[in-house]
Amino acid sequence: MTQTETSSLAPDAEGLARAAEILRGGGLVAFPTETVYGLGADACNDRAVAAIYEAKGRPSFNPLIAHFPSAEAAQAYVQWSDAADMVAAAFWPGPLTLVLPLRAGCGISRLVTAGLETLAVRVPAAPLARDLLERVGGPVAAPSANRSGQISPTRPEHVLAGLSGRIDAVVNAGRCDVGLESTILGLAGRPTLMRPGGIPREALEKALGRRVAERREAEAIAAPGQMASHYAPRAGMRLNAAEWQPGETRLGFGKVDCDLNLSRAGDLTEAAANLFEYLHRLDAEGAEVIAVSPVPHVGLGVAINDRLSRAAAPRD
Ligand code: TXA
Ligand code: MG
Repeated sequence: MTQTETSSLAPDAEGLARAAEILRGGGLVAFPTETVYGLGADACNDRAVAAIYEAKGRPSFNPLIAHFPSAEAAQAYVQWSDAADMVAAAFWPGPLTLVLPLRAGCGISRLVTAGLETLAVRVPAAPLARDLLERVGGPVAAPSANRSGQISPTRPEHVLAGLSGRIDAVVNAGRCDVGLESTILGLAGRPTLMRPGGIPREALEKALGRRVAERREAEAIAAPGQMASHYAPRAGMRLNAAEWQPGETRLGFGKVDCDLNLSRAGDLTEAAANLFEYLHRLDAEGAEVIAVSPVPHVGLGVAINDRLSRAAAPRD
C-alpha cells in the first residue's frame, strides 16, 4: 500500500474539525473512545471502508462497528426494538455495542457489515469521540486501531507503532479509561453475548429483565473478532500461573510478587484498564514469555480472561 504521512492532531476544536474534514473526505483517522482507540472511516463510503481493511491487514469477512453520537442517530441505520431501547437507556453512551437487523437502503457500505444482514452500532461515552462524531454528521466505521490480530491500542503511541504511515491522522488524546473493547450484545434474535467487554453480562441481564445467552459456536463466524489467536503480543503467554518459572516476565494480579501488577488491590476495573497497555509495554521491552496470575472469572474478569486466552492462543 502507499505510504502517507500520519499527522498527529490535538484533542481541541481545531484538531477535531480537521479530523472530521479528513473523515468526510474519505480518509482514515484514529480517535480515542473510552474503550480503545478506533480507526475511523466514513461508513457510507466503500473506498474509505476498504482502506480500513487494507491499513489493518484485516480479513475482509470481519465486519466493523458503526459509531454514532446518539441513539437517535443510530436508529436510522438499524431496525430498533424494545430490547434495544432498554439496554441503550441503561448503557449508552458507553462501552456497549448492539447488533441489530440492518435497515434496508440506509446507505451503509456493504463492506462494513461484510455482507451480513445485521449491523453493529455503538454510541461511545468519551466526550471527544462524541464531539468528533457530531462533526462528521454520519456513521463512522471504526475497528480497534491496531494491525489485525495484534493488541488493541489504549494510547496514541500504540496506534502509531502499528499504523504510522498507513493512516492519515491520529487524534492525540492520551489513555483510554476502560481499556478493553465494548461488550457486544446480539439483539437480532434472542439476546446473545457475542463478545464479553466493558459491561458484564449480569448488568445486561438486569437491564433487559431476561437471560442473555452465551455466544453459540455457529455465531463465532458472525463475530470473527472471536477467532482463537487475537490480541496477540510477540511474547509467549502462560496463563493462571500460580508460581513463576525462571526467565518469565511476571504479570501479577492482587498481592503477589511480580514484575508488573495489573492491580495490586485486586480491582478488576483497574486491571482491565491496564491490560493492553502492560502487554504493549512488556512486548516493547522484549519479554519472551509473559506469565500471568489467575484473574477471577467474574464481572469484568470474564472479558479480561477472554482477551488473555486469545493472546495466549496458538498463532499461525
Ligand atoms: O470498543 C470497541 O468496540 C472498539 C471501539 C473502537 O469502538 N471497537 C472494536 O472494533 O473493538 P473491532 O473491529 O476490533 O471489533 C468489532 C467486533 C468484531 O469481533 C466483529 O466481528 C464484531 O464486532 N461485529 C461487527 N459487526 C458485527 C455483526 N454484524 N455481527 C456480529 N459481529 C459483528
Ligand atoms: Mg480489534
